[in-house]
Amino acid sequence: MVVRPWILLLLSRAVAGLPVPSPAQLRYQSTDFVALIHFNMGTFAHNGDPCCDKTNWNVQAPYAAGKTSDAGTFNPKQLNTTQWMESIAALGANIAVLTAKHGCGFALWPTEATLPDGSPYGYNVGMPGAAIQYDVLQRFVDSAKSAGVGYGFYYSIMKNFYLCHNFSGKNSCMEEVLPRQRNVSEQDYIRIARQQVTELWTKYGNLSRIWVDSGLGGLGSLMDELQPQAAGTPKNPIDWCGTESGHPSRDVGSSDVWSTGHGYFGQADADEWVPKFCDPQLFEEHIWFWEPNLHVRSLSEMIPIYHDIVGRGMVMELAFSIDREGLVQKSHASVYGQLGAWVRNCYGSPLAATSGPGMAFTLTLEAGSQFDRIQLQEDIVLGQRVRNYTLEQSKGSGWHPLVRGSAIGRKRIHLLSATQVSERTQLRLRIENATRLPQIRQFAAFSPCQEVQEASDTGLGTGPPQSPTKRG
Ligand SMILES: *[C@@H]1O[C@H](CO)[C@@H](O)[C@H](O)[C@H]1NC(C)=O
Ligand SMILES: *[C@@H]1O[C@H](CO)[C@@H](O)[C@H](O)[C@H]1NC(C)=O
Ligand SMILES: *[C@@H]1O[C@H](CO)[C@@H](O)[C@H](O)[C@H]1NC(C)=O
Ligand SMILES: *[C@@H]1O[C@H](CO)[C@@H](O)[C@H](O)[C@H]1NC(C)=O
Ligand SMILES: *[C@@H]1O[C@H](CO)[C@@H](O)[C@H](O)[C@H]1NC(C)=O
Ligand SMILES: *[C@@H]1O[C@H](CO)[C@@H](O)[C@H](O)[C@H]1NC(C)=O
Repeated sequence: MVVRPWILLLLSRAVAGLPVPSPAQLRYQSTDFVALIHFNMGTFAHNGDPCCDKTNWNVQAPYAAGKTSDAGTFNPKQLNTTQWMESIAALGANIAVLTAKHGCGFALWPTEATLPDGSPYGYNVGMPGAAIQYDVLQRFVDSAKSAGVGYGFYYSIMKNFYLCHNFSGKNSCMEEVLPRQRNVSEQDYIRIARQQVTELWTKYGNLSRIWVDSGLGGLGSLMDELQPQAAGTPKNPIDWCGTESGHPSRDVGSSDVWSTGHGYFGQADADEWVPKFCDPQLFEEHIWFWEPNLHVRSLSEMIPIYHDIVGRGMVMELAFSIDREGLVQKSHASVYGQLGAWVRNCYGSPLAATSGPGMAFTLTLEAGSQFDRIQLQEDIVLGQRVRNYTLEQSKGSGWHPLVRGSAIGRKRIHLLSATQVSERTQLRLRIENATRLPQIRQFAAFSPCQEVQEASDTGLGTGPPQSPTKRG
C-alpha cells in the first residue's frame, strides 16, 4: 500500500484544534454583499467624519431647511425604507446596516438619554422642533424584516460633535463650545453612549451586524452580552481589508486573504476565525453621505471591484448613500440592480461543477465549450482547510497547470484567459496541502460573462450598430 504524504499530514493534524466560524460569523459570510447605508445629518450637512464641524454647525447650507445644529434640518420628505429594500434585494445583499448615529451626534431614533442637567438628549428625531417625528430605525427594521433582510446599526461610540467628542474620543471643546454644543465630561459622555447603545441593542431585536468604528469606549462586553448573535462584536470579530477604494489588491496588497487571524490578510495558521470585509463606495468619489453632482460607478467599474473583494474571500459592504428626499436615487438603484443581476447571471449556471470531501476533483468540459473563470468554495462550517492547490487542464495524457493558490475559504474566483476547448477536456483541482480533509462546496467552471450594456451608451442612431453586450 502506498501511503501518500498528505494522508500522514492529515493524520498528524487530526487532533489539532481548527478554528471554525461562530453562527454569527457564518451568517455574516453567507452573503456576498452587505448594504452599508449612510443616512443621517451628514446627508444635509456635508460628507466627512464627523460631518459636523466648526464651519457648518451653526450654518444653514444653501439647500437645507435650517442650521446643521437644528434637529429640524434632517427633513427627508419622501423617506421610504421599503424603497431602499428594493435595491438591497436587487443587489442580493442579505444584511443592511444603517447609521443610527454618526459623527454629528444626531440620533435617528427618539432616544431616552439625558444630558447631565436632566434635560432630554436634544439632537434626535422625535424631539420638539424635529422635522421627523417617528422612529426611523423602527421603520428600517420593519422594512428589513418584511424583505427578509438581516439588519444592524452603525453607532460611532467615540465621536459626537454635538457632545464635543472628536474621532479619537477626546474632548474637542477645550477652547470653545459653540452654541447648541454640549460640553460633557468623559464620565457623562460614556453614560450617554451606554444609554444609547443599550437602546439600540435591546429595542430592535437581534442584529446581524454591529458597526462602531474606531474604539469601543469600554462597551464591548455590553455588546457581547446584549447581542451575542451579531457579527462585528468582540466575541464575533470581523476585520477590515485596509481600504475604502474598492481595490484592495492594488492599494493594500494582492496576497491571499484568510478568514482566520486578524489583520488585512489574516494568517493561515491562526487559531481564531475572523471573516474579512471591504467597504467601497458606489460613488467614484470617496463620499459616503449623499451629495449632488457626483459620479456613480458603472457596472463595468463594479465588476473588477467584485472580483477583488468577493473573489478573494471577503464580504463587500457596499455603500448606500440615501438622498435628501430619503430615497435611493434612480441612478444608484440602476447600478445595484445591474450588479446583482450580473452576479446571478455570471455565476448562476456553471458549465460544470462538483463538490464534496477530497484532495482532487475533476470537471469535464464538452468539446466546443468556452471557459474563462473558475470559482472555488470551501464549506467553511468546517473551517478553512486548504493550504495549497493547483488548477490544471488536461493535455494529452498529462496536466497543464493553469493557476496556483493557497486560500480558498468562503469564495475564490480565478479569472483566466478565455479558452475554447476543441475536444472533451478535463479541469482538475489538486489540493497539495491541507490541515484536514478539505470539504469543497463548489469547484466550478464558467463561460465568459455577458455584461448588459446600459441604455445610455447604446449610441442610438449614430455610427455602426453596436454589440448589445461586452465581456465582463
Ligand atoms: C414606498 O416604496 C415602495 C416601494 O417602492 C412603494 O411601493 C410604496 O408605495 C412607497 N410608499 C410611499 C408612501 O410612497
Ligand atoms: C481631538 O481633540 C483633541 C483635543 O482637542 C486634539 O488634540 C486632537 O487632535 C483631536 N483629534 C482629532 C482626530 O480631531
Ligand atoms: C469642556 O469640557 C472639558 C472637560 O470637562 C473642559 O476641560 C474644558 O475646559 C471645557 N471647555 C470649555 C471651553 O469650557
Ligand atoms: C435572538 O438571538 C438569540 C441568541 O442571541 C436567540 O436565542 C434567539 O432565538 C434569537 N431571537 C430571534 C427572534 O431570532
Ligand atoms: C502553501 O501555502 C502557504 C500558505 O499556507 C504558503 O506560504 C506557501 O508558499 C505555499 N506553498 C506553495 C508551494 O505554494
Ligand atoms: C502545509 O501546511 C501546513 C499548515 O499550514 C504548513 O505547516 C506546512 O509547511 C505546509 N507544507 C507545505 C509543503 O507547504
